[in-house]
Amino acid sequence: MTAPDGYPVRRDIVDRPGGAAPPAPRAGSFLGDVLLGLSRPQKTLSPKYFYDLEGSRLFDEITRLPEYYPTRTELAILRDHGRALAHLIPPGAALLEFGSGSTEKIRILLRSAPNISTYVPIDVSGEFIEGEAARLRADLPDLEILPVVADFAQTISLPPAMLDRPRVGFFPGSTIGNFEPEDAAALLRHFAQLLGPGSLLILGVDLVKAPEVLDAAYDDAAGVTARFNLNLLARINRELGADFDLAAFRHRAFFNRERSRIEMHLVSTRRQSVRLGGRLIRFESGETIHTENSYKFTRASFAPLAARAGWDVAESFTDPAELF
Ligand code: TRP
Repeated sequence: MTAPDGYPVRRDIVDRPGGAAPPAPRAGSFLGDVLLGLSRPQKTLSPKYFYDLEGSRLFDEITRLPEYYPTRTELAILRDHGRALAHLIPPGAALLEFGSGSTEKIRILLRSAPNISTYVPIDVSGEFIEGEAARLRADLPDLEILPVVADFAQTISLPPAMLDRPRVGFFPGSTIGNFEPEDAAALLRHFAQLLGPGSLLILGVDLVKAPEVLDAAYDDAAGVTARFNLNLLARINRELGADFDLAAFRHRAFFNRERSRIEMHLVSTRRQSVRLGGRLIRFESGETIHTENSYKFTRASFAPLAARAGWDVAESFTDPAELF
């Protein structure tokens, strides 16, 4: 994941407080990505940096909020259609989960699909993934668990122990909706390459619905999503030594109907400057940092995206209210 949108870079916004010119920011490192994102006319931060240990914990809390329907709805779908899903999975399969946070979903899938013999959770958050894997190992001693600490969007070296097994991909949580359509297609192509011809990919996709329902899901009353969004600035302070004043930014989320996506922003509540990497970054009052998109699909809008990436929609399962 790079910026949540293809915004151009404007050089003059990122400048230095004086003295020698710092090296030009380069994409790829945390600092480089942050500096590049904050130098665009519409400032952006890559959502992949949400998930440090604190961010992963907050996200876990989001998934249990009353307003956040996607997780519980997807869990119910996995439960209710478990047998039909299991039917599609070859025996002795290795299931690769892309960006596994908690093991809640795979646990449900495993209950109806004992034909999964190996579980390969792939996640950037090493600490979180190891903790979850240890708990799963204790509960399911017969399941082979081979965690991979990696960015699932990059080239991944798979554990040798699973290479001869049939592969099934698992990409729940509508994470596909957090990518720009072009990037989503590229990612699905990447999965196709990793999984091989004739393989199965189980994908969670959130559906378009009433804007009020969508808005509430990304701006909950208890303010957990706000803390999750603001943790990105706290992380930049902690890890990159910036001086973001967290009290001077607030969370904003809304459904952008034209683009069929939820947008999450951090709004600067006053005119201010932030120090980062030897630079001074200026914010106008009301200026935003765009931190994430969550695209919402219909079955009709998703199928062509899958097709562009070489996937055929074999089956689709939804909940009775057709939320997810
Ligand atoms: N992919 C999910 C969604 O878009 C989960 C998610 C990603 C999310 N980033 C988030 C949920 C930020 C709330 C806030 O809903």
